Amino acid sequence: MASCPFLAVSERLRLTGRKKPLPLAQSANAFLRLLQSEKGAPTPSQSRFRQVSQSIQKTGTYSLTLPELSYGCRLAWRNSVRCVGRFFWSKLDVLDARDARTEEEIYQGCLHHLRHATHHGEIRSTLTVFPPSDSRGRGPRIWNYQLSRYAGYRINKKQVLGDPAEAEFTDLCLHLGWKPPKKRTPFDLLPIVISLPGKKPRLFPPPKKVTLEVPIQHPASPCLNSLHLRWVALPVVSNMRLEIGGISFPAAPFSGWYMETEIGARNFADENRYNLLPEVARRLRLDTSRPSTLWKDQALVELNRAVLHSFNLAKVRIIDHHSATASHLRFEQEEAKAGRPVQGRWDWLIPPLSGSLTRLWNRSYDPTEYSPNFLPQKRLY
Ligand code: ARG
Repeated sequence: MASCPFLAVSERLRLTGRKKPLPLAQSANAFLRLLQSEKGAPTPSQSRFRQVSQSIQKTGTYSLTLPELSYGCRLAWRNSVRCVGRFFWSKLDVLDARDARTEEEIYQGCLHHLRHATHHGEIRSTLTVFPPSDSRGRGPRIWNYQLSRYAGYRINKKQVLGDPAEAEFTDLCLHLGWKPPKKRTPFDLLPIVISLPGKKPRLFPPPKKVTLEVPIQHPASPCLNSLHLRWVALPVVSNMRLEIGGISFPAAPFSGWYMETEIGARNFADENRYNLLPEVARRLRLDTSRPSTLWKDQALVELNRAVLHSFNLAKVRIIDHHSATASHLRFEQEEAKAGRPVQGRWDWLIPPLSGSLTRLWNRSYDPTEYSPNFLPQKRLY
């Protein structure tokens, strides 16, 4: 039974299109069998199967062993249909913080995650697991989309200082009593908001000391430098639910390293984000009189060059979109060799810049999501 590829495929639990969650006993059993079918995974014994099913019968739940949890986290990453970085799925540091009890302990766990993962720029893929949901589906929550993000202060109905994507969350923080810096800038780190089941959310200071930031400069053209752009080194997504073997972890922040287009082609360039293309084009003295001069496209490339150059200069790990998509193709080949089909979301895997230059362009993907995985969950504000 050890590594039968047919078993591996048929045993996988589909999450897409399920209205109700499966009974816990069924999800747990499927997860243990999935582990049995994986080379390199901890192999659960027959007595472990019995132990888990008895625990579910007696207490309504069970707890994952550390090896099960660690491997389950890697599988959740490998199953993430939106992630172009999955070639590295087996190299993930799992930090077990399931014993965190108070909001303060969760906050400390978040700071520890930032320190461990950032690693002075030599970024390590990391996932911190806080306590699971109880039988009523309630657990600790981190309200931030990411652990390190910039505030978006509303100036009037239309304008925002900082990141417009964070305007609503910034409203919430101000409402909860956050005192922003006296002199507000477009790059003020937001506080962290944490809640325990049935309790009001609590506000914790922005993770300033443990958030590495990269000042953005262009490799050739100094005219961008006086924009004083910057971005955080580490993207730590903190609002998704991790699901392994039927157990839900509603607070399970995870991070890899950036692909430059996330910053240069979206965060800086989207009209509803920092919307920098007009200003960049002006500084590069491009002809912006009509779309057909392709000034936007040209400015976009320069912005992305600046991001890559700056991260390299700061010795912070980053990957360009050509290398990232090439690595995804290698991931697909390795999975095929192991007899496992790869799911994906074409619209997420193709980079927002020069998509047709990458080898993923003419491929097609099945978007079905399987367990373990990361799932969206209800917003709390
Ligand atoms: N796209 C998001 C951002 O720009 C980050 C999402 C996660 N990215 C990653 N490379 N792990 O902040």
